[in-house]
Amino acid sequence: MRREQLRGRGAVVTGGGGGIGRSIAMALAGAGMDVVVADVDVAAAERVRDEVRALGRRAVAVRCDVSQLAEVEALADAAYRELGDIAVLVNNAGVTWRPYRASWDASVDDFAWIMGVNFWGALHGHRAFVPRMAASPLPSHIVNTSSAATLRPVPGHAAYTASKAAIDGFSMAVRAEYEAAGLDIGVTLLYPGPVRTGFAGSERLRPEADRAETRGVVPWSSYTDGQPMRAGAEAPGAIDPDTVGPLVLDAIEHDRPYVMTHPVPPFLAERARQLTEAAPPAPHPSVE
Ligand SMILES: NC(=O)c1ccc[n+]([C@@H]2O[C@H](COP(=O)([O-])OP(=O)(O)OC[C@H]3O[C@@H](n4cnc5c(N)ncnc54)[C@H](O)[C@@H]3O)[C@@H](O)[C@H]2O)c1
Repeated sequence: MRREQLRGRGAVVTGGGGGIGRSIAMALAGAGMDVVVADVDVAAAERVRDEVRALGRRAVAVRCDVSQLAEVEALADAAYRELGDIAVLVNNAGVTWRPYRASWDASVDDFAWIMGVNFWGALHGHRAFVPRMAASPLPSHIVNTSSAATLRPVPGHAAYTASKAAIDGFSMAVRAEYEAAGLDIGVTLLYPGPVRTGFAGSERLRPEADRAETRGVVPWSSYTDGQPMRAGAEAPGAIDPDTVGPLVLDAIEHDRPYVMTHPVPPFLAERARQLTEAAPPAPHPSVE
């Protein structure tokens, strides 16, 4: 979508109250868009709403838990009511666990919580917004925040990786579906590498009884001679979140399928090599 097709139209950013979501909201506002800042932490959403307004754009803060379909549907209703036309949806809200923990030390609820926000949250966004985007005579774009965690293995982070890999598969399928069905809705997958945000503190959003410190979760480091896992915001090479928003804006303007914030992990090339080696040499009838 060209810049002039964005200007004056609406954008919705979930998890817009901080970090990467805030950066995307500010970049879209800088391109002349009005923004609905949605977050389960409404005070954080209101702070970013005020920053967007300071750029001279319209902005609304909405409290929304993306893991609940009814709340995302209410978000869509509010967004269309307040801004009239939504050109961009950014399904960015996400959570993680700390300490990193082995899959066998995690509870089923740990998995359900992370899948509920990270994957179901993005799915709810598509369910709530796509019918109205499809009915619009104007083009639209959806950005789904994945993670570099799906491009290489991260021990101690199985639920998170599973949730983001689900977003990857879903996004690639729906991008192809929209294209095949002639819908003017672009889809971009954002792959942040380590970004300096408050992400490691996600468990603050869980009921106290479910938090790791209450339950005494066995940390992954107990299997690695005390060596802590350093990924995400704690990793060397972590970048400032403000650098991410402009990359996302550029991808929307050029309908790029992927945004990368860091170099491609060598694991990805190695995986492609191993898959090629594992495949039968001649063309195979099944690609399922
Ligand atoms: N920071 C990193 O290194 C990194 C790396 C890869 C991917 N990501 C992804 O980037 C996205 C943004 O993360 P961030 O680093 O900016 O972290 P962040 O914690 O600063 O921002 C996440 C925002 O999502 C909100 N949120 C959490 N649960 C929610 C829910 N149920 N409903 C609505 N809002 C909710 C939080 O209140 C917060 O404002 C996430 O999807 C995350 O998985 C981050």
